[in-house]
Amino acid sequence: MAWLQFSSLGHAMREHGVWAYGVVNLVHILGVASLFGSVLVLDLRLLGFRRTIPLRDISGPTVPIAATGFTVAALSGACLLATRATEYIGNPFIYIKFPAIGLGILNVIALNLLPAWKQHKLRDLSSREQFQLTVFGGLSLFCWLTAISAGRLIGYW
Ligand code: HEM
Repeated sequence: MAWLQFSSLGHAMREHGVWAYGVVNLVHILGVASLFGSVLVLDLRLLGFRRTIPLRDISGPTVPIAATGFTVAALSGACLLATRATEYIGNPFIYIKFPAIGLGILNVIALNLLPAWKQHKLRDLSSREQFQLTVFGGLSLFCWLTAISAGRLIGYW
């Protein structure tokens, strides 16, 4: 945390005026909104909502928006953290938020290795495969909701 705070990124965040933090925070929230908005639509479909809409029609547009939103949130989040990183030490919500993000990413990696996900654009899935995707969708919702809730609460500690 000390290394991050005294890195050139930390200095730049503190030296660019009072608006720098606010603007980067806005970018962070736009990234989070893009990530969670698209993940929510995809995960609800994986959980069985709107089964009449083919999964590939939902995964096609939502996955790239989620990936872009995550990248924006991670880059802007690093800038926010660097501003006064040492002050977050001991804040319990960072110990909830970052493991939740890590678990969310592991869930995405595992999903991408799953034959049901790899083939969902090519063929109809069996009910067992659909159930597997339901589990991943539920875990994903849990991880990202936890990350958002803990992220919001960090500032109130
Ligand atoms: C991956 C790298 C990320 C880092 C380093 C990071 C870091 C931060 C920091 C330092 C804050 C400001 C906390 C404060 O003092 O109030 C923040 C706010 C927040 N973060 Fe992140 N974040 C990251 C990703 C995410 C992701 C993926 C999500 C959502 C899934 C998220 C959700 C939030 C929310 C909701 C807030 C509160 C913003 C506000 O109330 O204005 N963050 N983040």
